Amino acid sequence: MSEKADIKACLFDLDGVIVDTAKYHYLAWRRLCNELGFDLSEAENESLKGISRVESLEILLRKGGVSLAQTEKEAMMSRKNGWYLEYVDAMHADEILPGVREFLTSVKKSGRKIGLGSASKNALPILEKIGVMPLFDVVIDGTQVSKGKPDPQTFQLGASALEVHPDNCVVFEDAAAGVEAARAGGMYAIGVGDDAILTGANLVIPGFEGIDTDIFNKL
Ligand code: BG6
Ligand code: MG
Repeated sequence: MSEKADIKACLFDLDGVIVDTAKYHYLAWRRLCNELGFDLSEAENESLKGISRVESLEILLRKGGVSLAQTEKEAMMSRKNGWYLEYVDAMHADEILPGVREFLTSVKKSGRKIGLGSASKNALPILEKIGVMPLFDVVIDGTQVSKGKPDPQTFQLGASALEVHPDNCVVFEDAAAGVEAARAGGMYAIGVGDDAILTGANLVIPGFEGIDTDIFNKL
């Protein structure tokens, strides 16, 4: 990478970056853990952020010391997803996180490209629900990747679909695994959230309020 960042594309994670669905994933996983006889704290949930549904279940079963047959695992994932989708169905368009719509619009106006890079298989209906779909040039979601974050595949597919070199891409992520994925793919990473957790990022912001494309000058 050159000394000064030349950003031509932004890749956004979805859950916890664009919309506050990270809390719904947590509530649904915790409900499943409780049914299996153990609890899940918010701190423990941190390590599940950005991680695929199937891998998250494996982590939780190991944590709870529960062993299940494959058919039971499928049933558990479908239960969790059913609860998660109940939250999503009840969600309002205004649950887009503060400043995100304005930031996406400023990126678009600046002529840069916009992509989604999410582990979620529920990404499309959520983007539709909050009305930001027209701002995205490319959507990479959990239905298209074979290697989940922290593997860089999600963001590499995004950069390549946008036809932008990784050196010219910045990823916005709320999860340590996502920041790691971006850096492993040779891209800049801006963490959204707590800088004590997102230590691998080039820069961490608490959220998008008051943020515009000048942020790229800080990379
Ligand atoms: C990520 C979330 O965006 O998507 C994870 O951070 C979630 O918590 C993963 O497990 C998969 O999402 P879904 O909607 O396909 O279960
Ligand atoms: Mg996230």
